[in-house]
Amino acid sequence: MRVLVLNGPNLGRLGAREPEVYGAATHDELVDRCATAAAELGLEVEVRQTDDEAELVAWLHEAADTATPVVLNPAAFTHYAYALRDACAQLTGPLVEVHLTNPATRERFRHTSVVASVATGTVSGFGLESYALALRAIAGQTEPEARPPTTA
Ligand code: DQA
Repeated sequence: MRVLVLNGPNLGRLGAREPEVYGAATHDELVDRCATAAAELGLEVEVRQTDDEAELVAWLHEAADTATPVVLNPAAFTHYAYALRDACAQLTGPLVEVHLTNPATRERFRHTSVVASVATGTVSGFGLESYALALRAIAGQTEPEARPPTTA
């Protein structure tokens, strides 16, 4: 199964960007962590990053049209980007919202996610491990034992 990992604005600057908040790992290391997790889970992963909301929306349309599961770190778009939220609502496969930090412990404006209500679930606060956990959740969605038992 192929999974798209999509990263929003400023995440390409990981390593240099506020390392006391986001850690020392670079975006390339994030890509490597996703590749390792995906290999362990038998997933095929493609990681993309953009600072452009229109590009992110176009990638979500692509995922919607191909029923591709998505792991999304919308970065600052999380907190106000309704066009991004509406693109997420069109997804036909699972969507896991991820954050390196835990926005609930940070500034008040970060406490709102416009994406959360259309996501399958959210993983926040574990640094690069947030991505590995999200990929694990997506792999679990396809395992028969992960589905609720039928009553009939
Ligand atoms: C972030 C949290 C957001 O509030 C912030 O704007 C980011 C990164 C995170 O991964 O912790 O750019 O999404």
